[in-house]
Amino acid sequence: MESRVSRWWKVPAGMEPDELKNREEVIRAADCLRQGGLVAFPTETVYGLGAIATSEQAVAQIFAAKGRPSDNPLIIHIGDKDQLSHWVSELPDVAGKLVRSFWPGPLTLVLPHQGNIAANVTAGLDTVAVRMPSHPVALALLQLAGEPVAAPSANRSGRPSPTEAAHVWHDLAGRLDILLDGGETGVGVESTVVDVTGEIPVLLRPGGITVEALTRAVGHVEIDAGLKQEESVPRSPGMKYRHYAPQAEMWLVEGQEEHVLARIRELGADAMRRGRKVGILTTEEHADKFHADVVIPCGRRSDPLSVARGLYQALRTFDARGVDFILAEAFPEKGIFYSVMNRLRKAADGKVIRV
Ligand code: TXA
Ligand code: MG
Repeated sequence: MESRVSRWWKVPAGMEPDELKNREEVIRAADCLRQGGLVAFPTETVYGLGAIATSEQAVAQIFAAKGRPSDNPLIIHIGDKDQLSHWVSELPDVAGKLVRSFWPGPLTLVLPHQGNIAANVTAGLDTVAVRMPSHPVALALLQLAGEPVAAPSANRSGRPSPTEAAHVWHDLAGRLDILLDGGETGVGVESTVVDVTGEIPVLLRPGGITVEALTRAVGHVEIDAGLKQEESVPRSPGMKYRHYAPQAEMWLVEGQEEHVLARIRELGADAMRRGRKVGILTTEEHADKFHADVVIPCGRRSDPLSVARGLYQALRTFDARGVDFILAEAFPEKGIFYSVMNRLRKAADGKVIRV
């Protein structure tokens, strides 16, 4: 793809969407979207790489910039709940309930579309994934753009999702028009994706909204078979790719805490003797229990949200430090840790050691 002039603009923190809509950089970014350009912007989960969702040409540039396979559909982002009825053809009761409970916020709903979104957004499916983010910069941008914005995470395909503007710049400078920098994102893992086309909602991708919270809101949520068994065909097309991957070989160690720590120490020492550059992904509680080339405490075990927030930054740091072998502590698969574990399994390409 041809290189383009990229601009990186900081947006002040702490402003409401209405105030942000008067800021020059946000106005120019919305104009750029309307003219078919590519704008990276912060959401409460990760940065997105946006293009106007009604233009096939604009959307095609997202796939080119990311190196993303074209059979992996995109999420459309709206700045107003009322917009939903312009693009989806049906809103089942359960979907309405989820909208009222979690929007704006890190929840994406898969619904039947009306055929007025560019075909490459949905990869030819008869459903579209929609979400209304809560980040003030995202809301201001979307409200000014007026139309839905298709936006995958703003990373090169296969790299960890970006939680800071610098991550976006590292991956996509020269491939986008404008990067709106709103600081660190917050949630740290992507939105939860739920298919609400049937009677019972089906979880396709765990994320910022927990299964427990979804269940409290609607009574019952099915877990897609693709999340349970690696071998079955996942229903969320994006789940079949090796995602969130660090460049190093990665192993996840799971089991009783003391055994996990002991096994990581043993495997790490062994790998270092074999000349590998070893990284250990741990938590603040355990960081001083390890010696390796690079030890990264990713949040606190006692504060699961902090682990989610720091995860992708940690994976990127291993890459930047040239680590070629990573050992990671597993987490109990509850609450936001369930989403963290989903990403860790992918990063490890399914390689888990149980002790
Ligand atoms: O938090 C997020 O969701 C971020 C921010 C930027 O909003 N976006 C994001 O987009 O993570 P992306 O493209 O990296 O992931 C979109 C996921 C993929 O797993 C994709 O397969 C799934 O949503 N998806 C999109 N459309 C779908 C559809 N019609 N049916 C089922 N899954 C769909
Ligand atoms: Mg992504």
